[in-house]
Amino acid sequence: MKISIVFGARPTFIKMSPLIKECRRKHLDYFLIHTGQHYSPSLDKIFFEKLKIPRPKYNLGVGSGTHSQQMAKLLVRTEKVFLQEKPDLVLISGDTNSIAGAALVAAKLYLPLIHIEAGLRSFDRRMPEEVNRVIADHLSDFLFAPTSAARDNLLQEGIKRNRIFVVGNIIVDAVKQNIKIARDTSDVLSRLRLSPRKFFLVTAHRQENVDSKKRFQGILRGLELVFRKFQLPIIYPIHPRSRKRLKQFRLKVPSGVKVIPPLDYWDFLLLESSAALVLTDSGGIQEETCILRVPCVTLRDNTERPETLEVGSNIIVGTNPQKIVRGVQKMINKRRQWANPFGKGNTASLILDIIYHKIKKEILLKSRECWYNKR
Ligand code: UD1
Ligand code: UDP
Repeated sequence: MKISIVFGARPTFIKMSPLIKECRRKHLDYFLIHTGQHYSPSLDKIFFEKLKIPRPKYNLGVGSGTHSQQMAKLLVRTEKVFLQEKPDLVLISGDTNSIAGAALVAAKLYLPLIHIEAGLRSFDRRMPEEVNRVIADHLSDFLFAPTSAARDNLLQEGIKRNRIFVVGNIIVDAVKQNIKIARDTSDVLSRLRLSPRKFFLVTAHRQENVDSKKRFQGILRGLELVFRKFQLPIIYPIHPRSRKRLKQFRLKVPSGVKVIPPLDYWDFLLLESSAALVLTDSGGIQEETCILRVPCVTLRDNTERPETLEVGSNIIVGTNPQKIVRGVQKMINKRRQWANPFGKGNTASLILDIIYHKIKKEILLKSRECWYNKR
């Protein structure tokens, strides 16, 4: 069975790395397609180097653009590779444009498709990620959901129970595999002159936040108020999208906020695990803070990670400055005792066990019927 793994953005490099490692360990027949959605070394190359992800067989070079431009290139270029390589199975994870593109191509070729991290829903179709999740889930033959809540979302949408497997969240594997290395090797605290629990970490890059001057301004003003109240430095490793908007909107970074380039995974994990609290609009960081037992304040109006709210590691505050400070006040002294709802960190091996021992026959049957095998 020949497996094609398609990915193309920072969070999927991180989340697919444990699966790729497991594929290598088991000597499986797989190959990697990097869509090229992320290409700046700080979002791309650094993760392949540090996480020892093998060089992808293909880089489709789709780059940046409007969503339709990106999707158009993704469709044409992914199809070309699938036709050339004739995989039996396509594996995707997450909610980026890259994986929605791959899902559509796989479906049109009648090629078996599996979505990892299936069933997440913010119920907000203004988010491009929500559209991508729905596309990927509804086109997949089998769905690996991280939690039972995610499975229930899929059931609600009419996806059959026997196509869904609850396997935990693969980010737990990634955190477990990297946190010790981060603690042993990263000098980020001394480099930035920070002491554990004496700083805040912030990331904000989501389209609905930073492409809106008002919302981005709200976040920055909120950070200013947080610094005034708590007098702790705020470190902001900035995504290129946000840097671009900061300049375009002529927004001023408040005092107390230190903007730095994006970090590699080990530096970032160490900062995250050492922070007094994290403020973010990232999906993956809501999960990681929950796993690392660091309080999180989410700069969004909703989340597709409700488990973090339920266990109490996270709250939603949006982008109103006063609400941001109140959120920090509420979470900063939170007892870090919540349970991790995302599994044990064996998700990659569970996924491969299910593929090879439970559903392989069905995958191969469908693959024989796929468009290029019929001709
Ligand atoms: C994408 C995902 C988002 C995810 C994020 C992870 C979609 C719809 N969005 O958002 O869910 O949270 O990745 O980081 O897929 N840019 C660079 N260098 C790069 C890539 C992008 O400078 O390597 C800049 C470009 O100006 C580009 C902008 O960032 O226009 C946005 O990039 P894009 O890939 O469209 O979306 P992200 O914001 O990265
Ligand atoms: N991350 C990183 N360096 C940074 C910021 C984030 O390594 O400077 C990691 C973080 O630990 C998490 C992932 O990137 O695993 C989250 O990616 P992002 O926020 O870009 O995407 P999202 O999860 O929102 O889709």
